[in-house]
Amino acid sequence: MKRIVQPEILDTLPPHDPRAVGSRNDLRRINRLMQNHRLMARALEKCGHDSAPKSIVELGAGDGSFLLSVAQTISPRWPNVSATLLDLQKNVVPQTLVDFAAVGWHAEIVVADVFDWLKTSDAGEVIVANLFLHHFEDARLAEMLRLISERAKVFIAIEPHRASWPLVCSRLLLAIGCNDVTRHDAVVSVRAGFSSNELSALWPDKKKWELTERRAGIFSHIFIAKKSGGDSISELVGRASSRAARTVWLTSAREGARPTNLRHSEKIN
Ligand SMILES: C[S@@+](CC[C@H](N)C(=O)[O-])C[C@H]1O[C@@H](n2cnc3c(N)ncnc32)[C@H](O)[C@@H]1O
Repeated sequence: MKRIVQPEILDTLPPHDPRAVGSRNDLRRINRLMQNHRLMARALEKCGHDSAPKSIVELGAGDGSFLLSVAQTISPRWPNVSATLLDLQKNVVPQTLVDFAAVGWHAEIVVADVFDWLKTSDAGEVIVANLFLHHFEDARLAEMLRLISERAKVFIAIEPHRASWPLVCSRLLLAIGCNDVTRHDAVVSVRAGFSSNELSALWPDKKKWELTERRAGIFSHIFIAKKSGGDSISELVGRASSRAARTVWLTSAREGARPTNLRHSEKIN
């Protein structure tokens, strides 16, 4: 099945549009169904062995509920992690930050375009993405992966697996009450998803990285890139965090602005 990238409706709706709110609720249920948080927690632990990283960045974090589920799964073994939730839109509600704090994680929100942020930020260490990479054509994706590889020591992405079975199931979402936005975007997402070693093929500098890519769970596709060298995540992160203070960019665009209106950035520390 050829990879086809098409626009998703959720990306074009203002955060408070009722259809967008409904679709984000659907997404939370679909993530639970796909068990992506468990796949991510397992992959993080495998990459980090017994030691937790100091910080984890999620690209395209949406309302933050995915990384919160990961935190809730992994925090008994990995307490005190700083989480950065990066997204083009401001969708994270204050309660989500409270829920992160309840499991001992500190979460901060960054509203920015992923490319702008990766080019200007020093923050890398451990970067993750869930249902995000499939939004981009191969050329843009290769550019994003290059920027990530220059910053992160570990990168883990979980995406839709592009195959007939997930495509059939994506057409049945009315049965679990998903709205029109979710039903449209789910089919588009599977067609734009990944199979075999497509993400590995786009990863730069393969000699210095250990790459793992495979089908995971029932509908998902996992890609793991870990910088070679035998260091644990905490050793890698310790070194990274002793670099100049991290720069976080928070767009000053007002809540509700469409992605294309987000142009200005304001340094907050
Ligand atoms: C399908 S949602 C996934 C959200 C979250 N990862 C989850 O699993 O619930 C994709 C997210 O990517 C964000 N996004 C799309 N293009 C982006 C970009 N260029 N920079 C930052 N975020 C982007 C959208 O705003 C949306 O919240």
